[in-house]
Amino acid sequence: MTTPAELHPHPALRGQSILTLKEAPEAVPDVVRSAAWLKATPRNRWPAVLDGRAVALIFERPSTRTRVSFDVGVHHLGGHPLTLNGADLQMGRGESIRDTALVLSRMVSAVVLRTGPHAVIEELANHATVPVINGLTYDHHPCQALADVLTISERFGDVRGLKVAYLGDGNNCCVSLMIAGAALGMDVVAACPEGFTPKADVVRWADELGRPLGGGARVVTSPQEAAAGAKVLYTDTWISMGDEDTRDARLAALGPYRVDDDLIAHAHAAAIVMHCLPAHHGEEVAEGVLYGARSAVWDQAENRIHAQAALLAHVLG
Ligand code: CP
Ligand code: NVA
Repeated sequence: MTTPAELHPHPALRGQSILTLKEAPEAVPDVVRSAAWLKATPRNRWPAVLDGRAVALIFERPSTRTRVSFDVGVHHLGGHPLTLNGADLQMGRGESIRDTALVLSRMVSAVVLRTGPHAVIEELANHATVPVINGLTYDHHPCQALADVLTISERFGDVRGLKVAYLGDGNNCCVSLMIAGAALGMDVVAACPEGFTPKADVVRWADELGRPLGGGARVVTSPQEAAAGAKVLYTDTWISMGDEDTRDARLAALGPYRVDDDLIAHAHAAAIVMHCLPAHHGEEVAEGVLYGARSAVWDQAENRIHAQAALLAHVLG
């Protein structure tokens, strides 16, 4: 089978594990282009670039979108998705990550893992001889971010210098949005209260990446300052998986960062609202906004399929 030019792997991605997107930020524009091409192509006509190959999708935490979109994407690229609940693997009762990596590498062509501590996926990738893709850790959610920047690109076209405001908890989605956004030259401004800011080193890294491209990444405290003139208002849950014990403190600190009509009034007239989902109505986003005319969240969710299929085509192509 000949691979169409639109899916030719970027050299920085072929065979590459993707845990943060910092591995190959220069390839993000190509992944977005491939994803847009896949989206414009009926799924039953996608080229079978994964023909004869199995991809293990391991979930140690709950998931709706990541699980279904990877399964559907691998299927439509002609591959065999194996969706596995982490608790059902021997790893769930103590088999080492190293041994799991060595065994799976003999059986499948890539491993997608959703887990908690980022060190777990780093260890898996260190021992695997096939590419490992991060389906969410406490620190990063790169596949979400690829769908996010695809959604922003299809709405606005040229995204260099485009202001994206992230409101709320400086979590995994915030960090990955900064990296993927900066890789395309977006100006990503996160408004987070004290104690809930993303790690300074990754913000600096994304800022240095984005500046030569006309964008960057920074953190402010004021939600109105972040929203001012922004074409995208992006939010995520205030209580991520693993944060349940600090629920009360989070609700108290993050209340002023809710994306509602008052905040939208500060944004660009054409602003869209994004959320990686699942949403908590009336907490980080007002219900009317989630279902309103500015909401891009359902496109954003669907785009997980196209962005991840494009990533797999580049990594395994
Ligand atoms: N946004 C996202 O990753 O959703 P799931 O937790 O349902 O996979
Ligand atoms: N920040 C959220 C994203 C869920 C998709 C979490 O980590 O739970």
